[in-house]
Amino acid sequence: MNKSKNIDCDIIIFGTKGDLAQRKLFPAIYKLEKYCKLHTNTRIIGVGRATWNINEYLNIIKTSLEKFSKEKINNTVWIKLRKRINFCNLDVNYIEHFVYLKKMLTSKNKLLINYLAMPPNTFSIICKGLASIQLNLKNSRIILEKPIGSSLKTSLDINKQVSKYFLESQIFRIDHYLGKESILNLLSFRFANPIFMNIWNNQFIDHIQITVSEKIGIEGRWNYFNNSGQIRDMIQNHLLQILTLISMKKPINLKSESIRCEKVKILQSLRMITNKDVMDNVVLGQYSSGIIDGIKVPSYLTEGNDKNSLTETYAAIKVHIDNKNWKGVPFYLRTGKRLHKKFSEIVIFFKPIKKNIFTRYDNFKKNNKIIIRLEPNEGIKIDFLNKNPGLETEYILKNTNMNFYYKKSFKNFNLIEAYERLILESIRGEQTLFVHKNEVEASWKWIDVLIKSCKSEYNIPKIYKSGTYGPIESIQLINKDNREWY
Ligand code: BG6
Repeated sequence: MNKSKNIDCDIIIFGTKGDLAQRKLFPAIYKLEKYCKLHTNTRIIGVGRATWNINEYLNIIKTSLEKFSKEKINNTVWIKLRKRINFCNLDVNYIEHFVYLKKMLTSKNKLLINYLAMPPNTFSIICKGLASIQLNLKNSRIILEKPIGSSLKTSLDINKQVSKYFLESQIFRIDHYLGKESILNLLSFRFANPIFMNIWNNQFIDHIQITVSEKIGIEGRWNYFNNSGQIRDMIQNHLLQILTLISMKKPINLKSESIRCEKVKILQSLRMITNKDVMDNVVLGQYSSGIIDGIKVPSYLTEGNDKNSLTETYAAIKVHIDNKNWKGVPFYLRTGKRLHKKFSEIVIFFKPIKKNIFTRYDNFKKNNKIIIRLEPNEGIKIDFLNKNPGLETEYILKNTNMNFYYKKSFKNFNLIEAYERLILESIRGEQTLFVHKNEVEASWKWIDVLIKSCKSEYNIPKIYKSGTYGPIESIQLINKDNREWY
């Protein structure tokens, strides 16, 4: 990441009415205003089909800030922010409408950020529209929200269309997990500390678990989600990104090209899950009704209009990376909606000592672990064995731990929300926290085979009750290897 450069820019938000803009983008922009991270001349222009006048638009933003910001809205900050905001009534399907946007940008700022918080099938037409009014020039950047397609073919197509108008150095593909503090810390944890760096391989590590557990369901996104499923929605991007960061080799430096290049190598080394492996290595699930936080929630099927849907809302997958470093080390990934609790973590299990000298060591064989809590309670816990204090002649071992919490160690430090950081990084022009087209394509290549194998072997979702840990079969997936979920 670059040092802070406060550049005057125009931020154009396509999809300003949508869930993402309301829930994430406006609260993030508000926070940037609050922290004085926006240049005095920076302008924000929402683009949409509504015929709102500016006051109606400002009211909509204010309401979404009040609803989705995690703090009370400060009036002084809001007054500052509202002065920057404007609305452009434009239907992206009509190329001639783009001149309305051009008219709003007669006085120019140094930089133009086009944020496409829209479905991927609109990316091409928006890029074309922007090019028609010369808003794709060198000083212009484009932020693309996930999903970048729904398969290798569609992602290739999107990347090809967008690259007709923008260079790769102008394209910022969002995976908001890359903007999370605890995920960013993975590089420093692994590569700044020799005690960890030197044991990060198959000689010492037994296996790694990555869990992203969600409490929410599909939140009214049935049409999108039913065609997507948890594999496309979460594994193709967030979980594979975490996997690459936890397993990639040390990049030659911290430049975005070097980091992204190492990540691509991991994605290209993922062992394909073919028809013959899919039943042993993949468990899918779909939630039925249940109770979460004391509230009754409906089943996935009653939320939509396809009562026979076989879309998965949960997936647990055993993955192998076919390179020298990770030979024989399985990575167990699991993620699901409507589970008992919202949390994300990575757990690294170390191999037992081969010739141990402690007689009762066997009971503790698998106890050395590093638990990286991505959220909540961001931090790192290390489980290790200690002698039980006392006068016994024999060594009695006890499992103890060292526990680091961001909030305790960095008391005056606010954890930055992912979108705040990512918007700022795109203004700075720093691409490390964005996904390169090669990463998108390599991950879809692997996901395509996985999905095809599930379909051809009829690996269909097992039903799990909302508010639980997911389908029972996901426990068997790991137990049969003599291991347990953390
Ligand atoms: C999004 C998915 O990318 O990430 C959602 O589309 C999911 O389905 C969300 O709920 C989870 O993000 P977070 O930051 O809340 O873990």
